[in-house]
Amino acid sequence: MRTIEIFDTTLRDGEQSPGVNISTNEKVEIALQLEKLGVTRIEAGFAAASPGDQKSVAEVARRVKNSTIVSLARSVKSDMDAAYEALRHAQNACLHVFLATSPIHRQHKLRMSKEQVVEKAVEAVKYAKKYFSEVQFSAEDAARTEIDFLAEVVEAVIKAGATTVNLPDTVGYMTPQQYGDIFREMRKRVPGVEGIRLSCHCHDDLGMAVANSLAAVEAGATQVEGTINGIGERAGNAALEEVALALETRKDFYQATTKLQLKEIARTSQLVSRLTGMIVPGNKAVVGANAFAHESGIHQDGVLKEVTTYEIIRPESVGFKSNKLVLGKHSGRHAFKEKLVELGYHLEQEEVDTAFAAFKELCDKKKEISDDDILALVDAKMVRGAEMYRLESVQLSYGNLSVPTASVRLVRADGEVCEEAACGNGSVDSIYKAIDRATGEEVTLTDYKILSVTQGQDALGEVFVRLQQGELTVTGRGVSTDVLEASAIAYVRAINKILERRGEVLVGATN
Ligand code: KIV
Ligand code: ZN
Repeated sequence: MRTIEIFDTTLRDGEQSPGVNISTNEKVEIALQLEKLGVTRIEAGFAAASPGDQKSVAEVARRVKNSTIVSLARSVKSDMDAAYEALRHAQNACLHVFLATSPIHRQHKLRMSKEQVVEKAVEAVKYAKKYFSEVQFSAEDAARTEIDFLAEVVEAVIKAGATTVNLPDTVGYMTPQQYGDIFREMRKRVPGVEGIRLSCHCHDDLGMAVANSLAAVEAGATQVEGTINGIGERAGNAALEEVALALETRKDFYQATTKLQLKEIARTSQLVSRLTGMIVPGNKAVVGANAFAHESGIHQDGVLKEVTTYEIIRPESVGFKSNKLVLGKHSGRHAFKEKLVELGYHLEQEEVDTAFAAFKELCDKKKEISDDDILALVDAKMVRGAEMYRLESVQLSYGNLSVPTASVRLVRADGEVCEEAACGNGSVDSIYKAIDRATGEEVTLTDYKILSVTQGQDALGEVFVRLQQGELTVTGRGVSTDVLEASAIAYVRAINKILERRGEVLVGATN
């Protein structure tokens, strides 16, 4: 049985999903969960892309101990220098350099000859090796590269010191047979390939990213790259949870498995969904809400008689639990803290206190508190760095025959109170107009989603917003038993993120 290494790029390629923007603290949280899931490598970002990206990679590198932290870099010295700066405090680091190799990219994007591409790739790997012993080279658009030339590039970068070579299907164009053939050819033609990691990286433009990754594994790939929930550029990347479950469930066929802690999959998927605002479709394989639901009478009857009639994966094996009652009004701080540990949080005392206060508040509004409630509450209420505004109150006058009017009271980090009122087309619109006035910010709401965390009339409502201001796109989430309050919290949080991005957070401010 071979062990396939898992390279997670949720924080880099995943963050390239349109409209997704994850803050440094959120990236650290996801990275710690990925570490718990047992991924071998975490691509924390593209350090040279912006000071924010550099900071995020550095922070993830500082906090994660058991997975290797990777930063992407173009094959240029300044990118590699930025990646080195960000990675230098990592326990285990890998510099990931890339250069396109396909004729389309060489001709139209790089305007370079084959010889120049080989020379630049070799130079980049040699330069990266000055910094780290682990260097990954990716031949961008490898899948559309002439096979002879690809073999030449792969041989050259191995000789230059690359310890991993990645052959991406950058545009999601391959069929499983074709993509597998590329790996077979490399194994056949390239001297030294057996001594390195050979990695696959598939995009999902034709819905074949997971199938192509598995075909690469069959053909000799030793590492699979992808993202949680399959998020990523355009149609996304290969969904790692699907790859892992396919290998586990069909190890009779693939004769390969991963070292992932499969029971962490549900929690990881939910966390990534919450923090990116990318909702997991109900019918999504492995992690969708309906993935283990049996609706038809015939199926239900079969499952009741013998579960394997219609179920090939047990929900518990990927960490889905029955939504049982866990804590209530009389639960104390100790029990609450134990619960947080059980749910996978590693919180500082100040964060536990904030979460406990929010939990007690929720107990007054909601009779039964489930694991899902606590996850949503803590993810939303946790202190995530400095914030300029805190929502103190929101009031609304609404009637189906009158114009909704909202008034809000925000407290700035320096103590100043900002109160404003506004009318709008609907309740949420009036609240958002009042917040715009109170903060003086001009933003465009580009996405608004509302979800129920659990069932029942007293369920927590979770609101997700995406705001745009010029070039900046930010997201915000709010959780409350009242959806209008959740809407207001999400919006204020998003505005705080805009101010943080503009560097306007008051020193010492918290949320
Ligand atoms: O899809 C791709 O080619 C990439 C590379 C930069 C690795 O993401
Ligand atoms: Zn990619």
